[in-house]
Amino acid sequence: MHDHFPRYEPKSAVGRWFDSRLPATRMLYDSFVAYPIPRNLNYWYTFGGILSIMLVVQILTGVVLAMHYIPSADMAFESVEKIMRDVNYGWLLRYLHANGASMFFVAVYVHIFRGMYYGSYKEPRELLWILGVIIFLLMMATGFMGYVLPWGQMSFWGATVITNLFSAIPLVGSAIVTWLWGGFAVGEPTLNRFFSLHYLLPFMIAGVVILHVWALHVTGQTNPTGIEVKSKKDVVPFTPHATVKDAFALVMFFILFSWFVFYQPNFLGHPDNYVKANPLVTPAHIVPEWYFLPFYAILRAIPSKLGGVVAMFASILVLFVLPWLDTSKVRSANYRPLFRQFFWILVVVCIGLGWLGSRPPEGVYVVAARILTAYYFLHFLVILPLLGIFETPRPRPASIADAVLSRKGGGLFRPAGAPAAPEGRG
Ligand code: HEM
Repeated sequence: MHDHFPRYEPKSAVGRWFDSRLPATRMLYDSFVAYPIPRNLNYWYTFGGILSIMLVVQILTGVVLAMHYIPSADMAFESVEKIMRDVNYGWLLRYLHANGASMFFVAVYVHIFRGMYYGSYKEPRELLWILGVIIFLLMMATGFMGYVLPWGQMSFWGATVITNLFSAIPLVGSAIVTWLWGGFAVGEPTLNRFFSLHYLLPFMIAGVVILHVWALHVTGQTNPTGIEVKSKKDVVPFTPHATVKDAFALVMFFILFSWFVFYQPNFLGHPDNYVKANPLVTPAHIVPEWYFLPFYAILRAIPSKLGGVVAMFASILVLFVLPWLDTSKVRSANYRPLFRQFFWILVVVCIGLGWLGSRPPEGVYVVAARILTAYYFLHFLVILPLLGIFETPRPRPASIADAVLSRKGGGLFRPAGAPAAPEGRG
């Protein structure tokens, strides 16, 4: 179809021998060199690549940390201190891994909100989106279990609070909690199974990422106009265009990552986690890592324990049905004036919930968390379906090439106003 695009032709005899038996290099070439991408992708589209590299960083640093870490209630805390002080570059490995987890979540939140802004989840990319939500759930489970491993005060008490949530399930709740713990409190068996799963889950994430990228390559990427690729004027080859842009964004991202690792390595952690776990002393405030805070706020906003647990899980599960809740035929927020405003309100609400999650659950904080929680669900369950019916979208360009050539394709902050699109989804 794209005759001006590079083609894979093995140059050596060995290359041809492999290609006729296992065309793996050809597959990589077709996916990451010759693969056609929309010509107007902006920097918000570089976060998928950044996430892929961050997953590799987490696995590599994690595997080496595991060579020195001891998953026992007696030794875990000391083994982490040993890594920090005695293992060659152990401090670097640990700070990379701990801050890498945070950076991974920064990237995934940008990636998810990018998807929401540009309507990436809409037909025909529903499954691509759903695979993303599965990855997100797996990431949360991995992050949670990883935080327990250093066996500090926050590790222990965070694990106690979160596993205890299952006790809210009627009838079988406390049996489930005992089963999760492998005993009658968070202890040695809990730590062992968390270590085992924390090692396993990233590889499962890697498997789902492969499906995610596969699904992406079937549908192709969206772009800031939300209009599908119509002709070869709309596309450019992945290499050099995406490779160079992704590499540049990655370097910028790594500068921020390095700043945390080398200058503020404990900024995102909690000082209580430098105190060894003590089941007899409860910390004054038990707070999870920053990336769980919005969900923690939702959990505590509801007066009943079961209600809180249901609301917290529902706040993530609602993302699974997002493709069907958004009824608009127009994909990109660049051409949806009302949706765009509600999108930014949602961003502010999520940040607000995050902040409230870090506050003690009392007084005005609880009231505010209730209002924001209600708004969060209102956005997905009421505002989105109604917007699709009542909003009048702006005229869309006829094609990606048109949008680019009239220089009005628009990034996140640029208003759109190119010539009208003829028919179909934009
Ligand atoms: C380890 C985590 C993840 C990795 C490595 C990953 C990887 C990627 C890559 C490489 C792309 C193409 C480049 C781009 O558009 O940025 C992509 C696109 C996409 N991802 Fe992810 N992703 C991850 C998590 C997620 C999550 C959590 C979601 C949603 C909940 C998601 C939803 C999407 C969607 C909808 C697209 C298509 C975007 C479009 O074409 O408009 N991804 N992902």
